[in-house]
Amino acid sequence: MNKEKGKILITGGLGFIGSHTVVELQNEGFEVVIIDDLSNSKIEVLDGITSITGIKPEFVQLDLKVKQKVTEFFKNHQIEGVIHFAASKAVGESVEQPLKYYENNISTLVYLLQEMAKNEVNRFIFSSSCTVYGQADELPITEKAPIKLAESPYGNTKQIGEEIINDTTRVGNLQAIALRYFNPIGAHKSVKIGELPIGVPQNLIPFVTQTAAGIRQELSVFGDDYPTHDGTAVRDYIHVVDLAKAHIAALKRLISGENKEKMEFFNVGTGKGSSVLDVIKAFEKVSNKKLNYKIVGRREGDITSAYADTSFANKELGWQTKLDLEDALASAWKWQLKQK
Ligand code: UD1
Repeated sequence: MNKEKGKILITGGLGFIGSHTVVELQNEGFEVVIIDDLSNSKIEVLDGITSITGIKPEFVQLDLKVKQKVTEFFKNHQIEGVIHFAASKAVGESVEQPLKYYENNISTLVYLLQEMAKNEVNRFIFSSSCTVYGQADELPITEKAPIKLAESPYGNTKQIGEEIINDTTRVGNLQAIALRYFNPIGAHKSVKIGELPIGVPQNLIPFVTQTAAGIRQELSVFGDDYPTHDGTAVRDYIHVVDLAKAHIAALKRLISGENKEKMEFFNVGTGKGSSVLDVIKAFEKVSNKKLNYKIVGRREGDITSAYADTSFANKELGWQTKLDLEDALASAWKWQLKQK
């Protein structure tokens, strides 16, 4: 489809969201080149992608912090657009090691944008996060909600990242879209790719599936005294395949020139809020297993409630989610069972 124009560069393409996006891009006929440093991913993911789509994507193992390597990469590849997933994402670690996060998430972004400008690569999609809104004053959250002071260096890298890209679009030919993800969960229906948390998972769904699988003894539910329908915190859990498809819609918008601003921001969620107890109930239903859990105190830095107003993304990107919480949890469970 786009062969004559060049490939789509997916940084972090062996990670959780990156790998699912590579699959959707290949399904749509795009030629893809993956950059990944394997710091939080496994090379086997490449086989998973290849066996789903029948096409082995080009893979370059490269550390984006080494600017010379980024320069060489762009010299040797004709790139039509970049989807930038590569980043560190552990909130707690970012508090302990802020400079690691600013180097991994900010220096690399700057290098990429510099090399893109030099090589006239002008389409950029950025993995942002609903974390930029903090605890929003109004729910559901629209893209017009104010950006709140970041709770962690990780969250700050997403805010600063958006600003860096926005400033860059003001002076050159760059066209960019920031996708603000809500809570991505689930796995591909083939169960050949999914989430691979290293060590003890910090996020809810991998902790739930590992507990059900007997790897963890018990899930701690962080707080039941929030002002929500059942006292537990509410999030917008989106199936990773639906999320991946939002990237295709965003890329097509940039390629066809339908974007209305040089930088645009979209919420990518389902629009539906689910509490921790809602998630547990839905998981028990789809897995037919009782989950061992107990209520403990709140986790520091957690917000009460976040779910997206998706109307802007639905209208402008022509994109909407097709899968629901039960679909996502069922796929996460199937994936977990395959890991044993
Ligand atoms: C977390 C990050 C957020 C990041 C996102 C990426 C924090 C404070 N926030 O969001 O910045 O963008 O991951 O996916 O880490 N929960 C439990 N028990 C657990 C784990 C989680 O009850 O063992 C609860 C949490 O309190 C929260 C919900 O489950 O209410 C979802 O938690 P999680 O999956 O960590 O996502 P976020 O906190 O929304």
